[in-house]
Amino acid sequence: MRIGILTGGGDCPGLNAVIRAVVVGGSVLHGDETVGFLDGWRGVVEGATVPLLADECRGIISRGGTIIGSSRTNPFATDAGPDQVLATVQRLGIDALVAVGGDDTLGAADRLASLGLPVVGVPKTIDNDLPGTEVTFGFDTAVQVATEAIDRLQTTAESHHRVMVCEVMGRYVGHIAVHAGIAGGAAEILIPEVPFSIEAVCERLRLRHSGGRYFSTVVVAEGALPRDESAAGGKGPRVLAGGTDQFGHSRLGGIGMWLAQEIGINTGYEARSTVLGHIQRGGSPTAFDRVLATRFGAAALEAVHDGEFGTMVALQAGHIVRIPLSDAAGKARTVDPQLYEDVAGPYLG
Ligand code: F6P
Repeated sequence: MRIGILTGGGDCPGLNAVIRAVVVGGSVLHGDETVGFLDGWRGVVEGATVPLLADECRGIISRGGTIIGSSRTNPFATDAGPDQVLATVQRLGIDALVAVGGDDTLGAADRLASLGLPVVGVPKTIDNDLPGTEVTFGFDTAVQVATEAIDRLQTTAESHHRVMVCEVMGRYVGHIAVHAGIAGGAAEILIPEVPFSIEAVCERLRLRHSGGRYFSTVVVAEGALPRDESAAGGKGPRVLAGGTDQFGHSRLGGIGMWLAQEIGINTGYEARSTVLGHIQRGGSPTAFDRVLATRFGAAALEAVHDGEFGTMVALQAGHIVRIPLSDAAGKARTVDPQLYEDVAGPYLG
């Protein structure tokens, strides 16, 4: 078969492991030829490709990012986009396409599948917000990076008797914040799913410090929102300048800086903020992410050879399964309230 592969949306550690699994597995097991579409859907719309050879992909499992590039191009951003995708695939003799991405990339894949595109999806995102799969690759690496950063913030917080606020990614969900916050022993974990009261946060910090703890770390997800603001008309999370991408998303950021200022003013404690940003997305994947991404890549290859188009591979109860792309697209999987209340709450540092 002649297989195309694309990686779309924000990059994440493990993308190259999927590419390797599809290219090497396809070549060794089936004699497939694989073509990489450059920069996500842009490469398919514009017909921009690169040949992917098994020998060149053998050593990339440990490499962060994606060797075929990524973008937030939406093939439905123009009227002509979907037809251009179908025309490229036909012109290049592509029998099947593997689309590796998050909600936006896979949502587009789902729509294109209903127009006849032979596509199989692979879920990725550091945010871990895709329904249908228990976890996406990239998440474990992001949590590991954020945990290490929180560990480092703890020691400097302790030396200076400060409150250190750490803003982590995750867009509209708090999976990274909750997992890294628990693992790093944060005093507070603030997530988009549960709007917070700044007064209550300051009160808890005061209580903690009056009990003999003279430093704290506060982990805040970039999409977290103070309760009074969310009650005041759904203003939504803080956004950075720069408009929206082709899927309509603004860049989130700024809550950490605001929070540190408010904590300083309201408690009198010295407070500082750190934004982890793209450090959470860059660099080498953890062993867990390498294994999961390889399993997903191998399963996508099988789905392609079985002609199971319009599906996405997913992890459920430890097993790789195939689910309809439509089950994953368009919805965000939020933090389990039980985890937040039962584990995050009582065990905060
Ligand atoms: O979806 C992954 C993610 O890293 C989000 O956590 C974050 O809000 C966004 O992408 C940042 O996007 P960009 O790389 O375009 O700034």
